[in-house]
Amino acid sequence: MKALVLNEPGAPENLQLQETDKPIPQAGEVLVKVRAISINPVDTKTREGKAFYNTLKENPPVIVGWDILGEVVAVGEEVNYFKEGDEVFGMVNFPGSGKAYAEYVAAPEKHLAHKPANVSHHEAAAATLAALTAWQVLVHEAGIKAGQRVLIHAAAGGVGHFAVQIAKYFQATVIGTASEENHDFLRTMGADEQIDYHKYKVEDVVMDADIVLDSLGEENTRRSLATLKDGGKIISILGGATEAVQAAAKARNIEARNYLVHSSGEDETKLAELLEAGIIRSHVSHVFSFEDMAEAHKQVETRKTIGKVVVTVG
Ligand SMILES: NC(=O)c1ccc[n+]([C@@H]2O[C@H](COP(=O)([O-])OP(=O)(O)OC[C@H]3O[C@@H](n4cnc5c(N)ncnc54)[C@H](OP(=O)(O)O)[C@@H]3O)[C@@H](O)[C@H]2O)c1
Repeated sequence: MKALVLNEPGAPENLQLQETDKPIPQAGEVLVKVRAISINPVDTKTREGKAFYNTLKENPPVIVGWDILGEVVAVGEEVNYFKEGDEVFGMVNFPGSGKAYAEYVAAPEKHLAHKPANVSHHEAAAATLAALTAWQVLVHEAGIKAGQRVLIHAAAGGVGHFAVQIAKYFQATVIGTASEENHDFLRTMGADEQIDYHKYKVEDVVMDADIVLDSLGEENTRRSLATLKDGGKIISILGGATEAVQAAAKARNIEARNYLVHSSGEDETKLAELLEAGIIRSHVSHVFSFEDMAEAHKQVETRKTIGKVVVTVG
């Protein structure tokens, strides 16, 4: 089969199209013929030799990527929920070796969900790592409740646009940060208030938040503490809850935590239900071919993507 192999970490062009062995599904795994892949900042960081590069190196050939949409073409032993011909999507083996940039992926069935019939391949592919992150942070980590005030940083991005919609589903009041040109987009996602982070500091304009989702790191996490009410929670997905930030948070009776998304077919199935019902949707702003993966990585590296970047296979 064809796969994009990373023989050396580095530039986007280091992702080389090569013939590799088709994986054989083990017990509990299905073999998926991949139709679409979504691309995340962690893919580009790993390609550069950071993030999960060392993890992937333990299991050569090094094949980046975790988010897939495709068709089940074979099943291993002890597979209960999927059969040949099913269309499935999910984030495979994260954190670990997903090997998604390939024509075929062996995926644990417990990392996948059925693709709803009324959701496009691109939209399903996109609603994986980024959507799972938003769901797990807001629902499992922060315990979001109706009527809460939720501040979402980088709300126009991959994680952000799902987080806005999920928070609205829970009937929260949602404040999102984005460049001004993306404020209409935030409104269409359901955000109640939009803040242009180029013009305003959140700590000057937001107060009494119950939950903050930080995706920018320590300085932003620290500044965001001032936006939270007594008993509020800030979850950083970029390591922003350092010891110093946690100490400052504790002094104000705020909980500050870091979070790393993990594969979950159960959470993916919940997202599939919300997609099917039209309660959330994926905004796919760029689609590239498998052969143009380098261009997809360059787009993600702009840090200006609205919604998601998807790559089609075959
Ligand atoms: N820990 C985890 O489990 C986990 C999971 C997923 C992602 N992450 C990390 O979280 C970060 C975001 O991921 P993503 O997929 O959402 O990225 P993304 O889709 O590439 O984010 C792009 C968006 O970021 C916005 N942005 C850039 N700088 C900003 C700033 N200073 N303030 C507010 N918004 C800003 C841009 O908004 P404008 O164009 O409006 O300026 C753009 O829409 C990445 O570093 C990623 O690695 C971590």
